[in-house]
Amino acid sequence: MRLYELLFRHVIARFDAERAHGLGLALLRVLAHPLTLGRLVGAVLRPRDPRLAVEAFGRRFPSPLGVAAGLDKAARTYEQLGRLGFGFVEVGTVTFHAQEGNPKPRVWRLVGARAIVNAMGFPNPGAADTARRLRRARRDTVVGVNIGKSRVVELEDAVADYASATAVVGPLADFLVLNVSSPNTPGLRDLQDVTHLATLLDGVRGKLRELGAAVPVLLKIAPDLSDEQIDAVADFALAQGLDGLIATNTTIARDGLGAEPAELPGGVSGAPLKARSLEVLQRLHDRVGERIPLISVGGVESADDVWERIAAGATLVQAYTGFVYGGPLWPRRINRGLSERLDASGAGSLAEVRGSARRDLDSRQCPAPEASST
Ligand code: FNR
Repeated sequence: MRLYELLFRHVIARFDAERAHGLGLALLRVLAHPLTLGRLVGAVLRPRDPRLAVEAFGRRFPSPLGVAAGLDKAARTYEQLGRLGFGFVEVGTVTFHAQEGNPKPRVWRLVGARAIVNAMGFPNPGAADTARRLRRARRDTVVGVNIGKSRVVELEDAVADYASATAVVGPLADFLVLNVSSPNTPGLRDLQDVTHLATLLDGVRGKLRELGAAVPVLLKIAPDLSDEQIDAVADFALAQGLDGLIATNTTIARDGLGAEPAELPGGVSGAPLKARSLEVLQRLHDRVGERIPLISVGGVESADDVWERIAAGATLVQAYTGFVYGGPLWPRRINRGLSERLDASGAGSLAEVRGSARRDLDSRQCPAPEASST
């Protein structure tokens, strides 16, 4: 059994989940800081296989595996997470107004199901405070910033609120993510309706244009959308020339929890989300193909999972829960596993693997005509 598994089972699991995550991140900030072991950690754990590098929306990612939103909510730890081997970090969700989030406890680990349930409601120190940290001169890690609606703002005024957050953090982001899919802010997911999406995107893009900031804008969607809604979002993304789609956020469904309690409030992440997240990716890819980069997130636990997502059409992949259960050496294990899969497949890069599962399926369903022997 790995050291982290022992530590998890006997120490970490005894703490309240949110407190344990906070302590883990605080420890990481100290241990992987350049003034302590940061350089060594980076030298040992950062991905070095150039075949893992991915280009997307004008950015270069040293590994396709990134940290999903919610872990580094206020942009305090992204450099350290990059040193562990993650190819990028999505910070946030950041809201324009600082807010406390929902009352605690609001994060629960369901160890038996390799899942987490959270009802956090975007606790964060607000856009201006987060921007201060993002303004640091040099940055070694690709950083996306995920923005959401402030709790104190009515849904009718959401566009202005997202635009205000965009004005503060947008120009500092390598890419900006509009979060319209968290289950923990009342009414937020209604914004996934394409009429609302159009107004929202106009507001955010208008603000970026005003500031002269050429920042890619992506949308993060829920796994609980119907197939028709997913198709509508895909068509919207194509029509609007969106820079990318992130699928998926946590689910309000309670399937796959086994003996774990199903009555906790909020969204489920981790293993129970895996199948649906893959399904949503496949549906999006069927619709948008290679025209829009897709970032797949939900239940990713192993290098095989990452490979499966890329083969299904993902350009990049993210994880939160898999990292919590896998520990600090998990990103390196994934990167190594991907290099091994590349060796075995004979592909020269991950870009060659992207969408290959779909192509295989198509060629089986519709075999190429046999060459004539005459
Ligand atoms: C999240 N997630 C999340 N997503 C988001 O867009 N904004 C956020 O603030 C948060 N916060 C958050 C907190 C906690 C405790 C968890 C577990 C998750 C969702 C996350 O980014 C991701 O979409 C899902 O967790 C699915 O991925 P995993 O965890 O199965 O890899």
